Amino acid sequence: MPYFCEIKKRLNEIKEKDEIIILAIETSCDETSAAVVKNGRIVLSNKISSQAELHRHYGGVVPEIASRKHVEAINPIIDEAMNEAGIGFDRLDGIGVTYGPGLVGALLVGLSTAKALAYALSLPLVGVDHIEGHISANYISHPELEPPFLCLVVSGGHTHLVWVKNYGDYKVVGMTRDDAAGEAFDKVARVLGLPYPGGPSIDSVAKKGNAQAIQFPRAYIDEDHFDFSFSGLKTAVINYLHNLKQRNEAYRIEDVAASFQQAVVDVLVSKTIKAAARFGLSKIAIAGGVAANSALRNCMSLQAQKHGYELFYPQPVFCTDNAAMIGCAAYYNLIHGKADDLYLNVEPSFSKITARYPQK
Ligand SMILES: Nc1ncnc2c1ncn2[C@@H]1O[C@H](COP(=O)(O)OP(=O)(O)OP(=O)(O)O)[C@@H](O)[C@H]1O
Ligand SMILES: [Mg+2]
Repeated sequence: MPYFCEIKKRLNEIKEKDEIIILAIETSCDETSAAVVKNGRIVLSNKISSQAELHRHYGGVVPEIASRKHVEAINPIIDEAMNEAGIGFDRLDGIGVTYGPGLVGALLVGLSTAKALAYALSLPLVGVDHIEGHISANYISHPELEPPFLCLVVSGGHTHLVWVKNYGDYKVVGMTRDDAAGEAFDKVARVLGLPYPGGPSIDSVAKKGNAQAIQFPRAYIDEDHFDFSFSGLKTAVINYLHNLKQRNEAYRIEDVAASFQQAVVDVLVSKTIKAAARFGLSKIAIAGGVAANSALRNCMSLQAQKHGYELFYPQPVFCTDNAAMIGCAAYYNLIHGKADDLYLNVEPSFSKITARYPQK
């Protein structure tokens, strides 16, 4: 039977099934990951091969090296994920894969692999938006969580405040106008001489610092919109260090890291709490690599409790890039009949989560 006829049959069968198992693949940046996820929220395996050690040498991700490493790692990581899940390929109901946004070469490795598997196994292919994946990580860590809720997506490339109206229905209520929060962490860490990736380095060093030592700017904190800006903060840290160095004055890296981190956290928390009130939402979630930040978690928890919001955040392993979150998002797409054909291409710089509310 031709592939598309098989898929039509499969999609009809899926409507009747109680147990849907998805093999998911994530290769958008420098993590090669494969996961097996049951019914969207039960993670049977989640294997991640990180290239961080390799890119540390260059102070950031080198796209061509990332693609080549994905090619080496992808098949073994899929085998590991299937073995750990303890199931054969015949038990799968679909293949989920990140198709964007991300690095073009890196995405192509994951998508080509997913297409080959989908075709060979006659399974539906489900292309997943990476940002939808990050948001979905919350469903894994909190099986009781259902939309609607407000989600602060803070990752290496994105800082979005998203009103999750329903599965697959997103409205952006605010976003960064320049650098993403994770990008600011990475750039400031580099200036401070801390290792890549900068976020975890700053998080750990800041624990020994005084967050009130230096008053760095908190852009837009009092303005009546939910957009962010972190590029001025990054420049303020660079200028602060430059001035001290020129005067041959010493500084404590711990204090600079803690004060920078506090400036980021204050803006993120303040805007999120105000947006939840503005849009009448009682649940707040955070997602993306920066959601693993201890100061952000602590501060958001305190403020959410103070203002009466329920707060959700993923376990650290589901904050940074992983295939389990892609499997979760793929499940909700699949049960809503959203599968892709084999012409699906990568979308390096497009996310479907762009629609603004209110429309501008
Ligand atoms: N504990 C932490 N504190 C602050 N930032 C962190 C922490 N852990 C990770 N990060 C940051 O999170 C980012 C990586 O997150 P993630 O993997 O979600 O981003 P990405 O996939 O590169 O970007 P995107 O998801 O926007 O495409 C990096 O910028 C990293 O420094
Ligand atoms: Mg990511």
